Amino acid sequence: MPHNNTLTDIPIPTLSPAIPGLACFASVSSVQAYCFRGHEGLSTTEHECISRMIRAEDRAQRTAAHVLKRRVLGNILGVSPERLEFHQDRNGRPFLRHPESTLDFNISHAGNWVALSVVSCHDQACRTGVDVEAQRPQLDWASLSENFLSPAEIRIMDALDHDQSRLFALSRWSMKEAIVKATGEGLGATLSTITPTVHADGTFHCRNLNGYTIACDGHHVMGAAVFPDTVTAQIIKLDSTGWVQATPVTQPRNSFINHD
Ligand SMILES: CC(C)(COP(=O)(O)OP(=O)(O)OC[C@H]1O[C@@H](n2cnc3c(N)ncnc32)[C@H](O)[C@@H]1OP(=O)(O)O)[C@@H](O)C(=O)NCCC(=O)NCCS
Repeated sequence: MPHNNTLTDIPIPTLSPAIPGLACFASVSSVQAYCFRGHEGLSTTEHECISRMIRAEDRAQRTAAHVLKRRVLGNILGVSPERLEFHQDRNGRPFLRHPESTLDFNISHAGNWVALSVVSCHDQACRTGVDVEAQRPQLDWASLSENFLSPAEIRIMDALDHDQSRLFALSRWSMKEAIVKATGEGLGATLSTITPTVHADGTFHCRNLNGYTIACDGHHVMGAAVFPDTVTAQIIKLDSTGWVQATPVTQPRNSFINHD
């Protein structure tokens, strides 16, 4: 993997009128190799947050997530990553403050993966959420299921064999967390009352909100959700560089999520 930090080597995603939303997932090492020199471009707040992390892996993971966020958003807006200014709403949901920007974004990090979703908003209701989760083989999903699965989902899970039921639980968790990160409720929401309709191609729908899940490297599952009306995930796997890009084609819609 090259270490010359040239951004031309990877497809830094951008938006267009035809592609108003995207989600990209990158391994920490690929962001380190291609996207930044040290902590370049991060704000004092981001530095302070990262330096509080005890484990070096956590610091590397979070640094990669915030560098990826600045690189991609800066590329879309045509400004230097370090010039971007971020704030948080009262739920702690981060947002970009930039003149005339209509972008909404969300980040997630787990294990060796970081994820970023971005959507171009033409109205206040257009929002996005993303989640990446490690498999965590030691986790007893069966005992946790009532906390985040509906009774109908628990019945589906119970009918599956051991490996399938773990993947089912992880996918639903990731899907629902992406949904509540789009709404901004975070884990304050009652996940078991969210009942997305899931389609065979991995896309899902949950009243005015669409998304998709992606199994990435066999050990991680990622979900991305957007408020707009329709979403079609076009997934490009770039295994050699550790990038996965999913490009949803969206039609913004002025509506808010309701839990089913
Ligand atoms: C976001 C949350 C729903 C789940 O987080 P998680 O599964 O632990 O972590 P993820 O990697 O999926 O997402 C974390 C990111 O979501 C974003 N986030 C935080 N609160 C959010 C909210 N209410 N809605 C949407 N996104 C949120 C942040 O960008 C955060 O990353 P950052 O702290 O590096 O900026 C919630 O539990 C949370 O607030 N986590 C802790 C965030 C935190 O402690 N930050 C430390 C700052 S020093």
